[in-house]
Amino acid sequence: MSPLAPRPGILDIDPYVPGRSKLPGRDRVIKLSSNEGAFGPSPRAIAAYRAAAETMHRYPDGGAVALREALGRRFGLDPDRIVCGAGSDEHLINLARAYAGPGDEVLHSFHGFNLYPIIARSVGATPIAAPEIALTADVDALLAAASARTRIVYLANPNNPTGTYLPINEVRRLRAGLDPGVLLVLDGAYAEYVTRNDYAPGIELVDAGDNVVMTRTFSKIFAMGGMRLGWCYCPPAIADALNRIRSPFSVASATMAAAIAAIEDVDFIAASRDHNAVWLPWLSDRLRALGLEVPVSVANFVLVRFPADPAKNATAAMRFLNARGIIPRNTDSYHLPDCLRITIGREDEMRAVAAALAEFMGAPS
Ligand SMILES: Cc1ncc(COP(=O)(O)O)c(C=O)c1O
Repeated sequence: MSPLAPRPGILDIDPYVPGRSKLPGRDRVIKLSSNEGAFGPSPRAIAAYRAAAETMHRYPDGGAVALREALGRRFGLDPDRIVCGAGSDEHLINLARAYAGPGDEVLHSFHGFNLYPIIARSVGATPIAAPEIALTADVDALLAAASARTRIVYLANPNNPTGTYLPINEVRRLRAGLDPGVLLVLDGAYAEYVTRNDYAPGIELVDAGDNVVMTRTFSKIFAMGGMRLGWCYCPPAIADALNRIRSPFSVASATMAAAIAAIEDVDFIAASRDHNAVWLPWLSDRLRALGLEVPVSVANFVLVRFPADPAKNATAAMRFLNARGIIPRNTDSYHLPDCLRITIGREDEMRAVAAALAEFMGAPS
């Protein structure tokens, strides 16, 4: 055996499984597996990206000053408390590197985004999953699962893959019930899609103290997942810690140029949000009418639970949809083997997936 081995625990990690993007033998697919914005990126972002090609020989601004200022203007935040990185993944990971390690516990809810346990293990900490109620994070269960070893609580709000959310009052209650020495990470990857009055991504909680961070991404409503850009809003001491350990140039210049243009294209973002507000309930209702269980989602995807009958279960549905060129997301790694997750895409894509599932369920046409 080789004397070289990764640190204990690394080989116990099940690698993250991304949504599939290809089907054998098909040039064109309807990809509804990664919650990418329905319309693709803003044309203004594409133009800015192309223009930035001319200077690709230059290193990017490692401090991302122009981008942080643009984010600060757009969201009314102090740019000094914003950190940018290669996807929100980078922040979720660096927060664990900075605040947790061997012997510590990292808490998340049972069906929470499954990068959280991977990240916890990667720094030698132990992931702890708190039970949910009705596929929704449960503050009482999270507080009951917190121990003297808990260092970080990750909460995706809304959550992927369930699409459910906690109202801001509940998030406040979670923060109040945790020890002040525990970092609460509010992952707002889908925040822009939420239209509920009782929802907030948590900026006020970041401002209220020194132990809450909000992470956001350009991969979802901004539809720039291939550019890898995420940002987080932090208390000054946490921004300082992240800036000490982050990769110095993890955001490419073309990414920053495209993102600044995307932020300024407010009409495009509003249109994406309006589109989602129409097609999210449309698809949910269509699928419920087929007898499928679809929890109320506030994000840009739905979780669909299929019957146990092997002819009608999630595996059979995946096969059926794939045969029609449609790719939903398998949710086995989220302890939801009887479900599939389907992104809200364009109107033609939504009509195609609804028609295919009606045929699959044997509904009269
Ligand atoms: C809840 C949640 N957080 C974070 C991410 C990571 O996004 P990115 O690294 O592309 O910003 C995702 C992506 O699917 C997500 O669903």
